Amino acid sequence: MRVLTIIPTYNERESLPTVIKRLRAAVPDAHVLVADDNSPDGTGDMADAMAEQDGNIHVLHRPAKEGLGPAYLAGFAWGLERDYDVLVEMDADCSHQPEQLPLLLDAVQQGADMAIGSRYVPGGRTENWPLPRQLISRGGNIYSRVLLGTSIHDITGGFRAYRDTTLRALDLDSVRSRGYCFQIDLAWRAERLGLKIVEVPITFVEREEGASKMSNDVTVEAATSVAKWGLTARARTLAGKLGLGR
Ligand code: GDD
Ligand code: MN
Repeated sequence: MRVLTIIPTYNERESLPTVIKRLRAAVPDAHVLVADDNSPDGTGDMADAMAEQDGNIHVLHRPAKEGLGPAYLAGFAWGLERDYDVLVEMDADCSHQPEQLPLLLDAVQQGADMAIGSRYVPGGRTENWPLPRQLISRGGNIYSRVLLGTSIHDITGGFRAYRDTTLRALDLDSVRSRGYCFQIDLAWRAERLGLKIVEVPITFVEREEGASKMSNDVTVEAATSVAKWGLTARARTLAGKLGLGR
């Protein structure tokens, strides 16, 4: 399996060298793609310098901060064009421990179409995460459960491995999510297609360097998008039952 790990970055200068070093040690065959949104702190230049030293590291420079979703979509397009078999999502701040990536890759190797590193299945947990963030994260999962009827326990989790065929099936051209609801969007698409989603327990460790990019905009986008998706799906089901279907 040819593996590409995509790491989106915005001002991750302090974290990037550590995460890449740990990743290269944990899964030496995996290629790395840093998708940087022209970080003012020079993360992009730093990534270029690392790429010069190591042929397995690649950099995608994007003109401006557009959110996690567009950065990943650009990274997926880059990887699918180059025929990688598995595309991985991983944060730059070491919250997703590179040493746990083999757990996700094993799940895909054993037949999962998509593996999600999960904080909310037995064996999964968070470390040093402030209580307000824990509550938002738990609340977001409950909210998604109620509105979307999803059975995924950590649908906002951002440590994932997708089989290339999964991404090709998800109609990525129609994805509009910009912030963290991108994660919910893609997982729910996969679930509705009946793809095999496996949640693997992970330990999410709060970052020690830099700052989270979580914002009110990201939260509001997620809340409104999930409500819209859930209501649209219910309206479609109801229309079908009433024989009003297209
Ligand atoms: N290129 C790019 N552009 N990268 C971004 C952007 C952006 O606009 N916004 C965030 N990132 C990158 C960060 O640099 C980091 O590598 C990763 O995306 C995650 O951002 P964080 O700011 O560290 O996220 P978090 O720790 O608050 O949130 C975590 O939990 C969320 C809720 O469970 C992440 O794991 C999210 O993916 C997850 O949805
Ligand atoms: Mn983080």
